Amino acid sequence: MNETQHYAISQYPDVDDIYRRLNALTAGPMRPVRRDKMQEYLNYFDTKCVRSKELTDEAKKLIPGGVQHNLAFNYPFPIAIEKADGAYLWDADGNRYIDFLQAGGPTVLGSNYAPVRDKVIEMLQTCGPVTGLFHEYELKLAELIHRFVPSIEMFRMLGTGTESVMAAIRAARTYTRKKKVIKVGGAYHGWSDAMVYGLHVPGTGRLEAKGIPRGATANTQEFFPNALGALKARLIANILLGGTAAVIVEPVGPESGTRPVPFDFNQKVRELCDEFGALLIFDEVVTGFRIGMGGAQGYFDVKPDLTVFGKCITGGYPMAGGVGGRADVIMRFAAGIGGTGERAYVGGTLSANPLSCVAGYYALLEMERTNAPVKAGQAGDRLTKGLQATIEKYGLPFVAFNQGSICHLETSGVMLLDLRHPLRLAKGLKPRKHMMEEMGAAYMANGLITLAGSRMYTSMADTDDVIDEALGKFEAVLSSVEGL
Ligand SMILES: Cc1ncc(COP(=O)(O)O)c(C=O)c1O
Repeated sequence: MNETQHYAISQYPDVDDIYRRLNALTAGPMRPVRRDKMQEYLNYFDTKCVRSKELTDEAKKLIPGGVQHNLAFNYPFPIAIEKADGAYLWDADGNRYIDFLQAGGPTVLGSNYAPVRDKVIEMLQTCGPVTGLFHEYELKLAELIHRFVPSIEMFRMLGTGTESVMAAIRAARTYTRKKKVIKVGGAYHGWSDAMVYGLHVPGTGRLEAKGIPRGATANTQEFFPNALGALKARLIANILLGGTAAVIVEPVGPESGTRPVPFDFNQKVRELCDEFGALLIFDEVVTGFRIGMGGAQGYFDVKPDLTVFGKCITGGYPMAGGVGGRADVIMRFAAGIGGTGERAYVGGTLSANPLSCVAGYYALLEMERTNAPVKAGQAGDRLTKGLQATIEKYGLPFVAFNQGSICHLETSGVMLLDLRHPLRLAKGLKPRKHMMEEMGAAYMANGLITLAGSRMYTSMADTDDVIDEALGKFEAVLSSVEGL
């Protein structure tokens, strides 16, 4: 491991033990919130979230589903947020929440961090958000990313994680002249045609690929999480099928480590890629800078050929993504100076605009100066230890674990179902998904915002007092489940 003291993970989780517990959770009966208590939590939304309800009811007429992004959908209805500051969010009715969504991960400094906001305002007053031409902060941000993550010899900035994954795959195919791309089943790498495959539930292939022609996913393949033997088998079979251009993984495991990987997993995937001449792509949309300034690749000490970043590179400001890595591969994107003639086409009018670049530059500098990833990791450790103690206290089957500031609290186990246990999947998918939604609502009614009721991102703003306050609220919910 590379300079452990600079990383958010203080101790790597005991992955075998986690899977033992998760397996018991999904094999056993569900333990949802007691019906009387759940009714009380749902009453909170009807009585205390009136303005949110009005707004989202109106929104449903113009915005499909009432919200523009699935993260914003909450049971029983979405909450409209009006104010964000550090560890807290306030909704349109003035209710305060501890924010463990943190915009889906990027705000390691905490929400709406003033020193970065000030720099963005300064930029808006001088240059505005976009000119379509080169700005010095593009270079400054690329230099910073290269300094923190040395495998990034060159960097192409784009607007989102989704398009950065698309670009990485295109570069890998252009460079290797091979076709197949292998991902871990269940992993989310954005919503591009090729990546809506084996989404969320491992082994489900094209289940979610509505509106996507077969041809678009014909060269995408998945293997079950951590099944290195299956990955090798695919790489061998692909030799006669056009070859493997790339293997793409989230280095802590799919869905931000919801299915954690053994510590040596990434190294083994690296070795397999080398053996079969495939490029290794790390999707660090969440882990980049959250696990540490060196990314998860620094923590695991494994060098990918290409790295995809997303919202993290601007600290959460809009238009955030990019792909970096080996210069000989990234040069396939060169439009002008020194182009290889073998161009992988990428673009984006708003990519690398001055606003995003200045936000990213100062967000990353501040994260380094304040040691934010490590502080957020300490908050994640405190939260997880507290949750584990509550689970133990009430004798619950639930499972809490963390990779630094990425914390998981599995109560329904729905995120762990897959086609290796088809009966469990068929019987459990719907009710367990609903239970997870209910847990999210119960946490929210107690003043906690989580990611879909099972994941929490901590930030530097989560002081011990914030975490202790949160633990009290979690205990209120966890002590109100059926069977106690
Ligand atoms: C691991 C991972 N990859 C890719 C993406 C897609 O990023 P974006 O939402 O910016 O398109 C996400 C989004 O949450 C993600 O978590």
